[in-house]
Formats: sequence, C-alpha cells, structure tokens
Amino acid sequence: MVLLRLENVTKRFGGLVAVNRVSLKINSGEFVGIVGPNGSGKTTLFNLISGVYFPDKGDVFFEGKNITRLPPYKRAPLGLGRTFQIPRPFGSATVRENVAVGAMFGSLGGKINVDESLELADQIIERIGLGEHRKKRASTLTAVEKKMMEIARALAMKPKLLLMDEAMAGMHPKDIDQTVSLIKQIAVEENIAIVAMVEHIMRAVLGMAEKVIVLHQGSKLVDAPTKEALEDSRVVEVYLGRPLEE
Ligand SMILES: Nc1ncnc2c1ncn2[C@@H]1O[C@H](COP(=O)(O)OP(=O)(O)OP(=O)(O)O)[C@@H](O)[C@H]1O
Ligand SMILES: [Mg+2]
Repeated sequence: MVLLRLENVTKRFGGLVAVNRVSLKINSGEFVGIVGPNGSGKTTLFNLISGVYFPDKGDVFFEGKNITRLPPYKRAPLGLGRTFQIPRPFGSATVRENVAVGAMFGSLGGKINVDESLELADQIIERIGLGEHRKKRASTLTAVEKKMMEIARALAMKPKLLLMDEAMAGMHPKDIDQTVSLIKQIAVEENIAIVAMVEHIMRAVLGMAEKVIVLHQGSKLVDAPTKEALEDSRVVEVYLGRPLEE
C-alpha cells in the first residue's frame, strides 16, 4: 500500500531551486534511504514531507489524503513522525518526559493521558537502551544519548512513517549497526515505514534500506533497490564529483 506520495514537488529559496520536481512513493513498512551530496536538497525534502515547508509547486499525499498545506502539528497525528538533524530536547525535562511528549503529540495524541504517555515512554526508553537514563535531565546526556532519545521520542509518536534526518550522525560505526538493527526490528514489529537520510553513513543505508533515492542538485537522480542504486554509474559520478552527462 502506498503510504506517502509526492507529485512533482518543487521548493525554491529565492532564485535557488532546492527541490526540483521530485515525485516519489513510499509503501507502508518500507525502508528507504535518501542520499545525496551536501546541498542536494535532502533536508528540504524532509521538511516538505513533514510540513515545515510547503512546496511552491506539486502535491504531497499521505494515505491518499492531500496534505500539501497541512501544518506539521496536523501531520503528526496522522502518523508522520520525524527526528531532527540537530536534536532539540527540552533540556530541563527528564528523558522520560521528553519521550512522553512524542507520545502526546503523535498518532495517539488526545487518546492517551499523561500517565499512559509516561508509561509508553518508559517502555520505549527501555527498548532503545536508555533505561538507566530515564530520570536524568535531557541536558545531561551525551550527544549520542541525545540522538537515541530523539529516536525514542519519534517512536513514541507511534508513526506509520518515520523520517530520520541523520539521526545516527556522529555515532561510532558499531553503535550505528546496533541502532539500525534495533530500529529495523521495532519497525517490522509495528509496520513502520522508514525514510532515513543517511548522507555520509553509507554503511547505515546498506544495513537498513530496501530502496535508495539519490538526490542531486534538488532533483531525483536515481530511485532503485539499494544495491542497484549504489552501483549506478550516475551515483558513482555524483559522489566522485565528476561532471554529469545529460
Ligand atoms: N531556509 C533556507 N533558505 C535559503 N536557502 C536554503 C534554505 N534551506 C536550504 N537552502 C538551500 O537549499 C539547498 C538544499 O539544502 P538542503 O539543506 O536541503 O540540502 P541537504 O542535502 O540537506 O544538505 P546537507 O547534506 O548539507 O545537510 C542548498 O543550496 C541550501 O543552501
Ligand atoms: Mg541536510
């Protein structure tokens, strides 16, 4: 089943076309990696999907519903969760309170009370391996622990689609492998589709994605099963910085 569909989506910043007529489909439960060189439009594409930006042209559909101009707070309850490239925790709140916020504003928003949100947060924190930090203030966590908390917060939203914006950047390769397999387990159990922007961490793309979408200067260059995409000569050229043939 198609969960997310973008139709010819374009976003400009002044004269710059950050995302250029991008169309794509994400099926429910699918793992998709978005890659591309710096400035290729990955974060902008994420922001268009989550509603931080509205496109200048084109449409965004979630479960067949046109959400092109729906603000982010109205997308989260539909089942659209995300992490942020730079985690923005409530520093003075505890880890469990931060994660509970995800529960309250996600797809269960309005359906569970504060105690139930905290309970759900505890389960997810345990599952993600942050159990011992549960009652600590978020500001006392290390950078990697903050990233894990961010992932926990997004999972607490009980999303159908989880957008991960470099959620694992800065982690040790061993921790990335572990985190990827953990997230994959949880996603399979809960039928969560994941679109992960993994940029320089090709290793994580390979470990997680069934399909890879490669962006180049705002346009979709390749959209194919992972192995095929990474062997594509156009992708190799983009990463080696050679000029593209039309
Ligand atoms: N708010 C903004 N205002 C103006 N230009 C922007 C804005 N956000 C992004 N851009 C520009 O749009 C283009 C795409 O940026 P974007 O951040 O989406 O790329 P990216 O692929 O996420 O890059 P990175 O790998 O560096 O995170 C870049 O040229 C960038 O400078
Ligand atoms: Mg980015």
